[in-house]
Amino acid sequence: MNIASLSRIHIDNVRNLQQVKIDTLRKVNVFYGPNGSGKTSILEAIHLLGMARSFRGSIKSLITHGQSQTTVFGELQPGSLPLGIQRELTGDVTLKLGGRPVRTVAAMAEQLPIQVINADSFDLLTGSPSARRQYLDWGVFHVEHRFFDQWQRFQRGIKQRNMLLRRGKLSPEELAVWTRELAACGEIITTYRRAYFELLEPRFQAIIAQLAPSLAGLELRFRQGWDKQLSYIRALENSEPSDREQCYTHVGPQRADIRVLIGGHLAADTLSRGQQKLVVCGLKLAQGQLLTEKGRGRCTYLVDDLPSELDQQHCRLVCEQLAGMKAQVFITCVDSEDVAAVWPVADGDEFTMFHVEHGGVSAVEAR
Ligand SMILES: Nc1ncnc2c1ncn2[C@@H]1O[C@H](COP(=O)(O)OP(=O)(O)OP(=O)(O)O)[C@@H](O)[C@H]1O
Ligand SMILES: [Mg+2]
Repeated sequence: MNIASLSRIHIDNVRNLQQVKIDTLRKVNVFYGPNGSGKTSILEAIHLLGMARSFRGSIKSLITHGQSQTTVFGELQPGSLPLGIQRELTGDVTLKLGGRPVRTVAAMAEQLPIQVINADSFDLLTGSPSARRQYLDWGVFHVEHRFFDQWQRFQRGIKQRNMLLRRGKLSPEELAVWTRELAACGEIITTYRRAYFELLEPRFQAIIAQLAPSLAGLELRFRQGWDKQLSYIRALENSEPSDREQCYTHVGPQRADIRVLIGGHLAADTLSRGQQKLVVCGLKLAQGQLLTEKGRGRCTYLVDDLPSELDQQHCRLVCEQLAGMKAQVFITCVDSEDVAAVWPVADGDEFTMFHVEHGGVSAVEAR
């Protein structure tokens, strides 16, 4: 099993981090420092390495002002596997894995599966279904390697079908070709998504029982994107008149969603901000657990401003769960004690802190 763990990272020109080299990364890495010092930017650099993009804003906004490119280099242990990315203002991207150029981000993502927990993660509950589809597909992608090809096939298919619908004046046969194509890959995608969801849900429930016992009535429900009594081909045929009228494909996996309910109400409308954060953590932790159980390695967790919204007791519970995952974690906070005071002591050997100030990073101490 590939247990990805970054041992070092070199960052050039990510926001205010003009040249940062950290060669002493461990399992638990806490970055603390004042507002605007560069903590989130470190997480962004790691994200760039695994996903070729930032988790906030465009690449243009991430490259240090006045510079034309950004470079991040990392080394994964065991095996000393080097990973590198260079992104330029012109849009050019160079990815390297093991010293060799690679063409797809998927190759990088497989080596460094990343989970982000930050202020935007609330979108998982309060945002549009696309945030939850992305979440679901991240998991399916990592545990079911046949998913990606079918997903790409579906994206191509729906683009073609919608193009035809917009063109109008199309013969029934012309449309039927793309309806059949969509139906075929749409069913496969949905089978993978459902199978993944059914594994994920009980793991989420077990984690949330630890993190927030008072949220015992939480429910997750998978929605496939069309009437579950119908095959996808039948649903597409039924919606053909409205598809033609409104010039797009109404039903299908592009409409899938996960509903998060508590006592029959939408969690987004009911839970407090801190409770929402616990649910988000539960969802992200459940994915990491499943990834490991499926023999696909361990996720790297990027947790931006862990203490925000959480009282100390809940912060401690989240840390305990993160520690239990045995995953590599990168956590930011403002004060040095925010996380150090609540991280389980048994993990001491693997715990290290870095002080971040004015775009510079210095290792502080190992507990
Ligand atoms: N493209 C850029 N070039 C140079 N500096 C930038 C760029 N984008 C943002 N910055 C600056 O980089 C600094 C680091 O931002 P970052 O978001 O990493 O801070 P932080 O330590 O996470 O702060 P907070 O505690 O407020 O979240 C900020 O001072 C910001 O103004
Ligand atoms: Mg920040």
